[in-house]
Amino acid sequence: MGAHRFGRRSQAVALIGVTLSADGNEYGSRDSWSREPRFFGRRHGKRLRPNAARLMETRLPALAIVLPADGSEVASAGLFPRPVTDVWLEIGFGGGEHVAAQARAHPDVGLIACEVFANGIASLLGHLEGSGIDTVRIFAEDARRLLPVLPEGTVGRAFVLFPDPWPKTRHAERRFVNQANLDLLARVMGDGAELRVASDDPGYQEWARHQLDAHPAFEAIQVTTDRAALPADWPPTRYETKCLADHPPLFFRYRRVARSSSDRS
Ligand SMILES: C[S@@+](CC[C@H](N)C(=O)[O-])C[C@H]1O[C@@H](n2cnc3c(N)ncnc32)[C@H](O)[C@@H]1O
Repeated sequence: MGAHRFGRRSQAVALIGVTLSADGNEYGSRDSWSREPRFFGRRHGKRLRPNAARLMETRLPALAIVLPADGSEVASAGLFPRPVTDVWLEIGFGGGEHVAAQARAHPDVGLIACEVFANGIASLLGHLEGSGIDTVRIFAEDARRLLPVLPEGTVGRAFVLFPDPWPKTRHAERRFVNQANLDLLARVMGDGAELRVASDDPGYQEWARHQLDAHPAFEAIQVTTDRAALPADWPPTRYETKCLADHPPLFFRYRRVARSSSDRS
């Protein structure tokens, strides 16, 4: 984890790329996403409660992954305070309950958790606070900025759970599961690594299945609406629990095929 050069109050601010006012809650317009890749979602919602603001200020700086200024690689296994047997990646963790559950179930795995939504980041910090979990590191920016600087073939499992569906056709380019992002994932994932995706949006389900099937670096292991058929270590996310879309989720498990078989990345 890189050191950073910001003062105490501005530490969490700089790490999530937004501006924080003196009360620790007002987020302004300066952002680090103005360069490519362009980001399209919400970065902040309700005013943070005092405890959440405190966690952002005091805990995030110690757990945040900061990109090296010179563009060099982030040594993923070296992010954690003790040796880990594997490194897993969750993109768009929302409230972070799935990250925390995976960390609890797999205490020897290091988890890189990516989320841009400040309230979600604060929520994950709340799950981690006092839990004894020391294997989660947070990338509080667009995951597409981190993926190119993670070492090739070092991620053993990746999760993209209930990505924003962007249902309008004219917004299709914003859908995270697309060929360009699958290229990024295919590069960082090791041979045989598992990619887990879920969606409850019928249009996105079809979209994601097409994108995954079309990518030469991934092959299907399991695609199902039957939650009971999933591996035991696939706990529901907050979004899944809320059943926001009124459609049964479709769960995808894909394998990163061996590089000798097929690789365009
Ligand atoms: C619909 S929510 C689902 C959250 C969580 N996975 C769940 O199932 O409860 C999608 C989340 O992905 C995050 N997100 C979208 N694009 C992202 C990106 N490029 N990098 C990191 N997070 C992203 C959004 O901020 C949002 O919190």
